[in-house]
Formats: sequence, structure tokens, C-alpha cells
Amino acid sequence: MSETQPPFSVDQCRIVELPKISDPRGNLTFIEGRRHVPFDFQRMYYLYDVPGGAERGGHAHKALHQLIIAMSGSFDVLLDDGRNKKQFHLNRSYYGLYVCPLIWRELNNFSSGSVCVVLASNTYDEADYYRDYGEFLQAIGSQP
Ligand code: TYD
Repeated sequence: MSETQPPFSVDQCRIVELPKISDPRGNLTFIEGRRHVPFDFQRMYYLYDVPGGAERGGHAHKALHQLIIAMSGSFDVLLDDGRNKKQFHLNRSYYGLYVCPLIWRELNNFSSGSVCVVLASNTYDEADYYRDYGEFLQAIGSQP
């Protein structure tokens, strides 16, 4: 899978179907960097014990590539590149949502007991975030 290049837009964000080894003893899915996702990952984090009605996200990343997976349960992801928006409903542990840099994202509608796993192309760096929507729009040259 080739590296996704700028200019970044929601059209580059897509559902990636991950390998699923079906087995009566339980299914198995695996992910290899650059083979199943268009980046090497250096970090994994997860959201869990999300209370009903809570919203996560509310930011964009300057350079980070991510794959978002509903490892258990379901939730919605709204992506926004400053011009176009796309909404995804994630509810399978063998589907990931690839999100390229410079995409504002909101995660909500978490089902009870859901777990959101994220693979990220780099380690945590607060300087990589746009946490203000107006600042994000300005940075990408879109009108606030
Ligand atoms: P944030 O990325 O805003 O969470 P979400 O997008 O899921 O709503 O991160 C929430 C807090 O956790 C913030 O203070 C930064 C911290 N954090 C880390 O220290 N390391 C990490 O890898 C992540 C993702 C967040």
C-alpha cells in the first residue's frame, strides 16, 4: 500500500478491510504496517469506558496518520477536511478507518462497552495537534 500524499482530503480517508482468519475457536485479525495501512505505526492507544453521550476527538493532526478500529462495540466518526465532511459508522474489529493528516475528526455515539483502538504513525506530540477549529481552517487555507 503506497504512502498517502498531500493535498489531504476526506476522499483519501477510507475503510480498510483487515485480514480475518475465521476459526470456530474464535476469529483472528492482524495488521502489518505499510501492508494493511499506508504508514508504519509507532503507537497504539485505545479509548474504553466511554460514558453514554460522550464525544472524543475534536481536533486535527498536522502530520499524523491513523487507523481507527472499533475493536468492540460501535461508534461514529465524522471527518472534515475544511471543505467536505464524511461520516463513518464503525462496528467491526476487522475494519479500520484510515485517517490522513489535516482532517478534523469527531467521535461520538459510542455503544456501551465499546473499545476504540487507534494505530498512529508517530509517538504522542501535542505540537502535532490543531485543537481549535478556526485555527485548523486557517492553517489549511479554508474560510472559518
Ligand atoms: P486526545 O488526543 O485529545 O484524545 P481524543 O482524541 O481521544 O479525545 O488526548 C486526550 C489526552 O490524553 C490529552 O491530554 C493528551 C493525552 N494523550 C497522551 O498523553 N498520549 C497519547 O498517545 C494520546 C492519544 C493522548
